[in-house]
Amino acid sequence: MEIIRKTSVLSALTAEAKAAGKVVGLVPTMGALHAGHLSLIERARRECDFVVVSVFVNPTQFNNANDLKTYPRTEEADCKLLTSAGVDVAFIPTVEEMYPEPDTRVFDLGEVANVMEGPMRPGHFNGVAQVVSKLFSMVNPDKAYFGEKDFQQIAVIRKMVKLCGFNIEIVDCPIKREDDGLALSSRNVRLTENDRKIAPLIYKTLVESVTFAKSHSVAETQKFVTDTLNAIDGFEVEYYEIVDPVTMQPIEKWKDSVNGAPHGCITVYCGDVRLIDNIKY
Ligand code: PAF
Repeated sequence: MEIIRKTSVLSALTAEAKAAGKVVGLVPTMGALHAGHLSLIERARRECDFVVVSVFVNPTQFNNANDLKTYPRTEEADCKLLTSAGVDVAFIPTVEEMYPEPDTRVFDLGEVANVMEGPMRPGHFNGVAQVVSKLFSMVNPDKAYFGEKDFQQIAVIRKMVKLCGFNIEIVDCPIKREDDGLALSSRNVRLTENDRKIAPLIYKTLVESVTFAKSHSVAETQKFVTDTLNAIDGFEVEYYEIVDPVTMQPIEKWKDSVNGAPHGCITVYCGDVRLIDNIKY
């Protein structure tokens, strides 16, 4: 595996791979890699001939300075994992290398970015669009892999791809969970012992709500999830929305989800740690 820190070297290598007829796959990450990332990499390796994984904690997508400061950074361990995962290139740039000039681009991401994480984390999705579009321009991959834990983020990236006219297949990959159901996340390392004990109840409640939903309305199901979790000491639900899986717009009636099965998207503070998860109805 080559570790590359310069964008010019990255572009030259991936252009060479493409010229040789290789299918290039990109897995963008912010490091602190876990089995969830590894499942994206495994899929990329199955489907592509040349796999690039980027490891970059992107400052423009953090709307909270403390979250950026405390985001786990584990480069050495990440490189070991990437080497044993059989990745061709690990791209690990500095902030100055990624942003030699401040990125002032504002993406018109439309309705998919106007709900849930959009208003809760102002500027977050614009920052994601900035960094992912830069990576796409540098690597020019055939396919790019994203985890469904960040369900809304995938919709935002698909929108950015359309806006920028990239010819890149966005591959969404299922959420990886601990045996007790907790969705894998780099932020899980910040959970205290007690937080970690209660955290699986998020997914447990989401699963129970699928049965509940069969005989209840959207609003009742939303209330069931929110009330169940808020009743547990240590949780504070920020939002629970049930949305159309493509437009991300909250629905009022189950039949309002016109693009497929409705999706429930949740953000919960578990102690100080902001956890997200989602489920298909
Ligand atoms: O999902 C993430 O880890 C990040 O938002 C991404 C896509 C790597 C962009 O920084």
